[in-house]
Amino acid sequence: MLQVRNLSAGYFGSTVLDGLSFEAGAGITLVIGPNGAGKSTLVRSVVGSLRPVSGEVLFDGVPVQRLRAERIADLGVATVPERARLFGDLRVIDNLRLGSRLATRRGETVDFDADVAEVRELFPDLGPKLKDPAHSLSGGQQQMVAIARALVAHPKFLVMDEPTTGLHPVLVKELIVKIEQVARNLPILLTEQNVLQTVPIATHVHLLEAGRIVLAGTPQEILADDRVRRVYLGERAHPPEATASEAG
Ligand SMILES: Nc1ncnc2c1ncn2[C@@H]1O[C@H](COP(=O)(O)OP(=O)(O)O)[C@@H](O)[C@H]1O
Ligand SMILES: [Mg+2]
Repeated sequence: MLQVRNLSAGYFGSTVLDGLSFEAGAGITLVIGPNGAGKSTLVRSVVGSLRPVSGEVLFDGVPVQRLRAERIADLGVATVPERARLFGDLRVIDNLRLGSRLATRRGETVDFDADVAEVRELFPDLGPKLKDPAHSLSGGQQQMVAIARALVAHPKFLVMDEPTTGLHPVLVKELIVKIEQVARNLPILLTEQNVLQTVPIATHVHLLEAGRIVLAGTPQEILADDRVRRVYLGERAHPPEATASEAG
């Protein structure tokens, strides 16, 4: 579905991503990494808001690394950017309409009311808010609108950049359940710092540090990795080995 090959990208001549390669298909392909690792740079390179320096990005075999963001969206790639980025002064419903327009532009026949009904089913909290200006919603609700806006574009692939960052822990839990639900029908590339809560819902995980993938594997493999446990899950550096030998 998505293939990233030897991708390098950066800003004003400085390299952030250094020869990244991975693939993302059905389910959730999760890229975890600390602040500044290059997660957003990766997302921007994939969805066309940043032109990579070298390497390839392919969707269904079509190279897109030289295409503008609008053209990549036309291929069915939808984005939930970092911090949602809604049109704050527009009503929620009008933000959704903008997403829907992407599907119309591709020549699809769109039943907007039916799409909104689906959105209300997925995010019941948004129902009473549809006519409110987007900026009046809570951070969690705005993140839901951003996801809904991407979904009404009828994408074939969804890219989400740190959707849980800054949200109340209760909302994080809720949102992760929704993302898991969406991923049943739509392949997702997800970036996150929240290792503990997002790794379990992933199909495949890549750990990004300083612009390089330093570890990749299944959720089980990632959660069993010593360094991940120490650095990202805050476990003690030296677990008491005595217990094991005493028991043996
Ligand atoms: N628009 C930009 N202009 C210049 N440097 C940037 C820009 N965006 C990000 N960077 C730099 O690129 C590196 C990776 O940032 P980013 O991709 O935002 O990481 P992450 O999303 O993992 O926190 C950081 O050193 C950051 O300062
Ligand atoms: Mg980021």
